[in-house]
Amino acid sequence: MKAALLHRLVDQASAPYRPAGPWAWHFARGKLKGDPLFPALLEPGLLPAAGRYLDLGCGQGLLASWLLAAAGTPPHSPAAGVAHPLPRMLAYHGVDMQAHSIAHARQALAGSPLPVKLEADDMCAAALPPADVVTLFDVLHYVPPAAQEALLHRIRTALPGDGRLLMRVGDAAAGLPHHLSRLVDSLVVLGHGGGWPRLHCRSAAGWCALLRELGFSTEIRDMPGAGFANVLILARPTSNPTS
Ligand SMILES: C[S@@+](CC[C@H](N)C(=O)[O-])C[C@H]1O[C@@H](n2cnc3c(N)ncnc32)[C@H](O)[C@@H]1O
Repeated sequence: MKAALLHRLVDQASAPYRPAGPWAWHFARGKLKGDPLFPALLEPGLLPAAGRYLDLGCGQGLLASWLLAAAGTPPHSPAAGVAHPLPRMLAYHGVDMQAHSIAHARQALAGSPLPVKLEADDMCAAALPPADVVTLFDVLHYVPPAAQEALLHRIRTALPGDGRLLMRVGDAAAGLPHHLSRLVDSLVVLGHGGGWPRLHCRSAAGWCALLRELGFSTEIRDMPGAGFANVLILARPTSNPTS
């Protein structure tokens, strides 16, 4: 994918955050531009050609804005370095426990041509609506292990056979880069007035083992430029979910 296309997508996906104020807009631009997750999501084979998204711990809903911007790219445009159709979002449901993030997401996504629902709630307690893709980006380590397991079990039960769960998690086995990355997470929470959080991390191998126990196959996907501390896991239903 060519840099010019990525720049255009950053501009388009961050522009709807302007009405939510300078902080929301600068945050959106910085994250979309600097986080290797977003270009990685557009690589072939990761996301389905079309699907309904459930984004747990959605923050400002950047995933929705990014996919809406990407959907405007013509399929097979060699000039943009795209040889495959980019994933098309059919509906988006975001859940986040921070009311101000949900308020920014609501403002930014108000003009969306697709059905969008945004809920200020604890993902561990919220009902899970039908979805083809469930995302958990940089959020699972905020909840204790038993709640992580219960949520993943509910997601497995809710996902259709051809559904996908996509998680970005820290790899607790990555050593210093992992500790630095978690320090940044804690400082961000502290900066938002949430106190010093207790984080509950696992190694990438530990996350994959848990997912397999719950009835998923797992694949670690490339996120070029991401370093070792964070990994992107694509999990798909295999056997029947454990009861
Ligand atoms: C590091 S941010 C990631 C935001 C978003 N996923 C992204 O990649 O842009 C983590 C988010 O998870 C949310 N969060 C943490 N625990 C949560 C919970 N139990 N239920 C819902 N949201 C939660 C926080 O409010 C925060 O917005």
